[in-house]
Amino acid sequence: MHSAEKPSLYDRLGGVYSIATVVDDLIDRLMVDPRLNANPLVDEAHHRVPPAGFKYLVTEMVCWAAGGPQKYTGRSMADSHAQLKISGKEWEAFLDDFQQTLDKFKVPAAEQAELRAIVNSTRADIVVDSAHPPAANS
Ligand code: HEM
Repeated sequence: MHSAEKPSLYDRLGGVYSIATVVDDLIDRLMVDPRLNANPLVDEAHHRVPPAGFKYLVTEMVCWAAGGPQKYTGRSMADSHAQLKISGKEWEAFLDDFQQTLDKFKVPAAEQAELRAIVNSTRADIVVDSAHPPAANS
């Protein structure tokens, strides 16, 4: 059988309802993660931003990046994260939360890898020390 064009990541994930459900769980996890809230700038923003709007924007973005019909209407990753001064260690904590969410919903390995690639493509815009790592304590 000749395979037709491969369905988009968006369709393979189950569309907006599935993606919104995953984002809902992930944001709930991130907003209370003490490894992230140890950064006072992140803690302040996590308590200022209404979770429903935050979830809406992240859902919109993931749907768009996965090939769905949505258009992302939020700010750029650099604009929305630069002031938070997110470190490489905090990024690792984020990835750990992300992995826990993907596993909870039993997202298949291939789709997990594609989602990780989307997330990793934003790292340089989000982590402050990715381009210029701070000098070791010397
Ligand atoms: C360590 C990792 C991350 C932390 C601690 C973090 C934290 C935050 C916080 C606190 C805000 C609210 C900023 C504000 O309004 O003042 C925000 C906004 C946002 N973040 Fe993140 N974020 C992280 C990674 C990511 C990643 C990987 C993505 C997507 C792939 C993402 C997508 C968004 C979006 C779409 C917004 C809304 C932008 C807007 O307000 O228009 N974030 N993030």
